[in-house]
Amino acid sequence: SPSTYTNILVSRPETGVSLITLNRPKALNALNSELFRELNQALAEADADESVGAMVLTGSEKAFAAGADIKEMQSKTFAETFKSNFLANWSMSTIRKPVIAAVSGFALGGGCELALMCDIILASPTAKFGQPEINLGVIPGGGGSQRLTHAIGKSRSMELILTGRMINAQEAERWGLVSRVVGEGEGVVVKEATEMAKLIASKGQVSVQAGKEVVNAAYEMTLAQGLNYERRVFHGLFATNDQKEGMGAFAEKRKANFTHD
Ligand code: HXC
Repeated sequence: SPSTYTNILVSRPETGVSLITLNRPKALNALNSELFRELNQALAEADADESVGAMVLTGSEKAFAAGADIKEMQSKTFAETFKSNFLANWSMSTIRKPVIAAVSGFALGGGCELALMCDIILASPTAKFGQPEINLGVIPGGGGSQRLTHAIGKSRSMELILTGRMINAQEAERWGLVSRVVGEGEGVVVKEATEMAKLIASKGQVSVQAGKEVVNAAYEMTLAQGLNYERRVFHGLFATNDQKEGMGAFAEKRKANFTHD
């Protein structure tokens, strides 16, 4: 049976989909260390669970997450942050299955960075993104300066990080920060993200995880290295049953029944 948590909720809304909901509503899902520990554990559990193909990460209607917990950080000294390597465990880089962020309301600071760690972001029309750390006398510390710049480019990233201004869902879509803005209404963004996760979970899981891996390689490699890596992984997929099934099903004009091996 799944672990129980105090700062998050974990459920199975559809076959193959694990839904993780940040659940500190009174603090607008401010991300404290306990919450992040639980989130890491839930993601690792879903990643290891054969019956899960993709994850959805969401918050509340009012806030995906309003940032790292300022009250927890307030009194930290440089030596403490340095010695504990504060935020070093803020990463999803070991998670191999796709994670879709379903963002409603505030995604600020660490909340925006958390969405950026996910593989796909869907936004409700109420979503607001920003990196307001500059107003607190600091800068993004959860990857914002890097992932945001990769996502929206230098000028826009500089503007957000140096002014602390929030952008709305439409602007985030125009800037390429999110895949798309879904329709209005409570729960719509979670429903759409869940449908997308279900669709991904219905594909061959070896190829899904390989696809995630090679897209992420685009951020780490030169173009020549990345193209070569992609081709090698592509070659490797010809060793799977799912490749035989997928191409066989096409030739026989039937639906593929992937066995994820
Ligand atoms: C701790 C927070 C919080 C946060 C909100 N709360 N954000 N607590 N850390 N990041 C708490 C408030 O203190 C308040 O608690 C309750 O949540 C409701 O918030 P309000 O401010 O009353 O709500 P509202 O007036 O609607 O304003 C919403 C808001 C504002 C605009 C999102 O809360 C806000 O500006 N929050 C801080 C945003 C921010 O600066 N984020 C970046 C954090 S630094 P009480 O007890 O008073 O009811 C960061 C560094 C990243 O993320 C480093 C890497 C991870």
